[in-house]
Amino acid sequence: MQINVGIITVSDRASRGQYDDLGGPALKEASVGYGWTVSAEALVPDEKREIQRSIRELIHKGCHLILTTGGTGVALRDVTPEAVRELAVRELPGFGEVMRMESMKITRNAILSRNLAVVVEQALVICLPGKPSGAVECLGFVVGAVPHCIEVLQEVPTSC
Ligand code: MTE
Repeated sequence: MQINVGIITVSDRASRGQYDDLGGPALKEASVGYGWTVSAEALVPDEKREIQRSIRELIHKGCHLILTTGGTGVALRDVTPEAVRELAVRELPGFGEVMRMESMKITRNAILSRNLAVVVEQALVICLPGKPSGAVECLGFVVGAVPHCIEVLQEVPTSC
């Protein structure tokens, strides 16, 4: 099935124009490489309500998969996990577990990562680190589970 992807960069400084958003383009390139269609992109500050509004907006634009990059660390302004958990109908802990364990082979700072994946409405939301290379690496660690997850989430619920 075609996977429509929405990419959200969460960054105070990039959203203020203080530095270029490199994470979004890096994830766009990776998504195209996986054969997905990037149908929406957004750049928001580290604000819970803005993150939530952007996720809902991209889902309502038809995105089956939302990739966020940034705001999953330990800094006080890092609120992406809290923002998405409030919207989630369920959390998929395996994604965060695998992203951290695989990232430990690259950087001990992976322990600081609060990366996660949740289901919002019928979309899969994967929250990745802000560092472009980290975001692409973490996506690569879990990409194998994405197609089946999207298929199941998009299935029209059969009346049991
Ligand atoms: N995982 C990978 N694969 N590569 C990285 O560079 N950065 C780590 C961690 N996980 C990183 C990683 C760091 S330094 C932090 S603070 C946390 O992700 C959260 O990053 P974020 O605050 O940019 O979201």
